Amino acid sequence: MKRDYEARIRQLRSEMTLEEKIGQLQQCGPSLVGAFDVSFDELLNMMFDGRISQEEFNRLMGTAEQDFHEEDLRAGKIGSYNGVGDAATVNRLQKIAVEETRLGIPLLFGYDVIHGFRTVMPIPLAESCAWDPALWERTGRIAAEEATAAGVHMTFAPMVDVAKDARWGRVSEGAGEDVLLNGAYGAAKVRGFQGDDLSKANAMAACLKHFAAYGAGEAGRDYNRVDMSMQRLWEEYMPSYQACVEAGARAVMPAFNDINGVPCTVNSWLLRDVLREKWGFDGLVISDSNAIAECVSHGIAEDKKDAARQAILAGMDMDMSSNSYIECLKELVESGEVPECVLDGAVEDVLRIKFELGLFDNPYQTDEERESGAMLRGEYRAIAREAAAKSIVLLKNDNNVLPLRPDAKIGLFGTLAADGGQMTGAWAIGARPEDCVSIVDACKARGVSYRYCAGEGCENRVDEHAGRSVRTDSMVQETAEASDILVAVIGEQKEESGEAASRASITVSAEQLTLVDRLLETGKPVVVVLINGRPLAIPELAERAAAIVEAWHPGVEAGNAILDVLYGDVNPSGKLTVTFPAATGQCPMYYAHINTGRPGGKSKFTSKYLDAPVEPLYPFGYGLSYTTYVYRNGKTEKREEGIHVSVEVTNTGNRDGEEIVQCYVQDVSARRIRPVRQLKGFEKVSLKAGETREVEFTVPYAGLCYYDWDMKEIPCEGVLKVYAGGDSRAELTGEVVL
Ligand code: NOJ
Repeated sequence: MKRDYEARIRQLRSEMTLEEKIGQLQQCGPSLVGAFDVSFDELLNMMFDGRISQEEFNRLMGTAEQDFHEEDLRAGKIGSYNGVGDAATVNRLQKIAVEETRLGIPLLFGYDVIHGFRTVMPIPLAESCAWDPALWERTGRIAAEEATAAGVHMTFAPMVDVAKDARWGRVSEGAGEDVLLNGAYGAAKVRGFQGDDLSKANAMAACLKHFAAYGAGEAGRDYNRVDMSMQRLWEEYMPSYQACVEAGARAVMPAFNDINGVPCTVNSWLLRDVLREKWGFDGLVISDSNAIAECVSHGIAEDKKDAARQAILAGMDMDMSSNSYIECLKELVESGEVPECVLDGAVEDVLRIKFELGLFDNPYQTDEERESGAMLRGEYRAIAREAAAKSIVLLKNDNNVLPLRPDAKIGLFGTLAADGGQMTGAWAIGARPEDCVSIVDACKARGVSYRYCAGEGCENRVDEHAGRSVRTDSMVQETAEASDILVAVIGEQKEESGEAASRASITVSAEQLTLVDRLLETGKPVVVVLINGRPLAIPELAERAAAIVEAWHPGVEAGNAILDVLYGDVNPSGKLTVTFPAATGQCPMYYAHINTGRPGGKSKFTSKYLDAPVEPLYPFGYGLSYTTYVYRNGKTEKREEGIHVSVEVTNTGNRDGEEIVQCYVQDVSARRIRPVRQLKGFEKVSLKAGETREVEFTVPYAGLCYYDWDMKEIPCEGVLKVYAGGDSRAELTGEVVL
């Protein structure tokens, strides 16, 4: 429900002084004071370099005081805060804004609620593997219920950056490599976060990010340059952002990167021509953190003032953390370099979202009672468990080693099996380690027969079930010998994916491989449970482990959800939304590639590597189940509303299950070469053992359009191949001539 606030916005803006206007465009975060003699950035570096432990970092942070710049707030120099996530502080600061500033304009509180607030859900990449928009929306709603209870008005999510390069750490924060899937994921999140009426106290504005093509940084390195054809940008990247704008996202965060030489932060083509003119967006545009000032490092602005000028002229409304606007805009407006009407436009965008959020009528949307009652409710945990189980992808299961027999004696290995705090993955600021269920916790709660040993390369840890503490090496041996089946929980720590966590080698560590080798030497079946935030190149494990369960960073209910799948209470149904390369050197690797004139094959002069296969380890869309599915009778025909595709899918095993049916197309003779396959539809169907269902898709003709050499959008003509099945290698269902 959208209300019309335009007259009130203009009236209020007309009453504002130049300083008050600029103040509305300033977002700041609390600064930390005291407790340590180095800057916060240096302290962070010290932790990342290993000079201090995370515990020491946390201890120092705990003793530090936060400075909310209250004098600036009173003087009307702050319009918004980032990173304040508790009701008492939010209300205290809001009271200053409402009661002590001249115009009483309420503050807007933004926060990174990426995959849950307190009830941490699986990381977005994991959740995307459920291919389930209704689930994405439900978990988004829970995030909003909790975050708004803590006083948050806007989340910096969803991230819908298509990510085709597994080296990029932020692959964990989005829905993987496909643009259609990212769009569906983002739109569902927008609906979940915002609800049906933004003015309700439990609705949180969605700030889609990072506009645009942040996931396409060269070599998978974070913040790196993006250089690509306009055709590719519009076909493979822009539609996911557009889907979120169409779903009603009320804010947009431009990306750190440049596009073809112009940083998104100061890119008026992107922010004005595309976002506002072409897509009709009338919400808030807020910079990424410090991004305006960083235009100087990009080498596009002479100094901060020049950066501020370029940003506001390009359509950037609010400055996150760089102080460029607060320091430079007054002079820029007074000198005429920035027309006041441009500033007014930005101010109106800020006021609009505050009106839409109902902040002028009810600036105090929460209190401590609401806050405490909203967190980690039983029903939220239940959904977190369901979401985590649905996100799990079964990559391998030789001889049906899984599900585990209820009476099997389990040997559990790896520090990640016992470390609940690691299960949240990147970007879980509201998380508390004590809220998280580790696999060991879940084993205890279930009362299963298990022994736990952290394992090779890890400190000597022992669980009380093992009875006594002995040296790690012999413990691995001893634990393995006493068990029927060995479960190695390995992968990535939560800091190994997410922002500023690109990796040049996406393997598991040598220690972890050694641990698995030790276990394999016993001759007992080894199940690998992967905990990670990105695809991993694991050919050794793929070859030798009996089963591989990709659990990602599953959130607060990690252990319970993983055991639900391991013991077969839940039949795994997740499918990969990113390709798993066999070697890091294959990156970027993605299913929707082009063929080249010499597709990789056996003969020498084809497009391939000498030392790595052409094929991925596990393809996009892939995932096993404890049952099996067979596809038959694929049909394709042209109809008025689009191409109609149908296929019969039968559950041929003896367990009920859910199968994610996927539909792909290939335009074989277009005016520009097209990807070998493009996802055009998906549906998750429940099938009882033995049941057959017909699944239908309609691919609208408009969805097949592409751009010609001159950037004219043109329809698909000629032969189109259509595929439907259980992954991106699905069988041909037919061809149509358009
Ligand atoms: C930097 C990140 O790129 C962005 O995703 C995040 O929302 C902001 N910092 C705010 O924390």
